[in-house]
Amino acid sequence: MNGGSARIICISSGKGGVGKTSLSVNLAAALARKGRKVLLIDGDLGLANVDVLLGLTVSRTLRRTIEEGLDPAALLVEVFPELQVLPASSGVPEMASLSAQEQAVLGAALEPLLDRFDFVLVDTAAGLGESVLWFNDWARENIVIVSPDPTSLTDAYALIKVLRGRYAKERFHLLINNAKTRREADETFATMRSVLTRFLKIEPHRLGEVPQDAAVARAVRLQKPFLLAEPECRAGKAVAAIAAGLLGGS
Ligand SMILES: Nc1ncnc2c1ncn2[C@@H]1O[C@H](COP(=O)(O)OP(=O)(O)OP(=O)(O)O)[C@@H](O)[C@H]1O
Ligand SMILES: [Mg+2]
Repeated sequence: MNGGSARIICISSGKGGVGKTSLSVNLAAALARKGRKVLLIDGDLGLANVDVLLGLTVSRTLRRTIEEGLDPAALLVEVFPELQVLPASSGVPEMASLSAQEQAVLGAALEPLLDRFDFVLVDTAAGLGESVLWFNDWARENIVIVSPDPTSLTDAYALIKVLRGRYAKERFHLLINNAKTRREADETFATMRSVLTRFLKIEPHRLGEVPQDAAVARAVRLQKPFLLAEPECRAGKAVAAIAAGLLGGS
């Protein structure tokens, strides 16, 4: 936990490839377009992707903060004035599992940055590794992305169970991604809600849904947020609505 004023929101899914990076980048862009100062942290410390999806050129990464104590303010990459990115390294597997000491170094180093932003979003790695768990604990709000794929549901459930058991976290925003129809999104949320209330006594908050949309993959190839590349696409409108919902709840 930290004492800064920014809303710190961690984005995870358990399962890989569910859309964490795509939605983190676009949610950050949506909040920034609404005039909020946003810091997007690439918390996928071993297989960074945020820089790729935004087409950024990165020379120094969070690895320098974790290993050498470099001030993260020196690592910030500006996408546009309201949106700054803290990049991570790719191909550095040892970064994915932060030791308790590295967690303490990172937490202390990030603290002074927080006052400069309204929102701090963290895109995390797949799985339940130490860095994923630590970023989820560090954040004040937790978004769990689920897709209609049954393995996404079981992995999201496993993540929430661990976060509840380890850190007593009980409040989770569920974001349904990649459903083909509204009905499929509704069923996905209903299934998640049913197991969470039954087995963990957790009542999840439905943050919203982003439909399956070919514009998402097109934007990845352009290395631009779909929200900016194709503002009228269904996924873009959905993310804008989710950002509005987050602002309404602040
Ligand atoms: N709503 C969507 N509609 C269509 N394709 C999508 C959607 N969301 C994500 N995808 C596609 O799914 C793939 C994985 O997305 P992304 O990299 O954001 O997932 P991830 O959860 O960050 O993956 P990892 O666990 O590897 O970090 C990408 O090719 C992306 O284009
Ligand atoms: Mg990712």
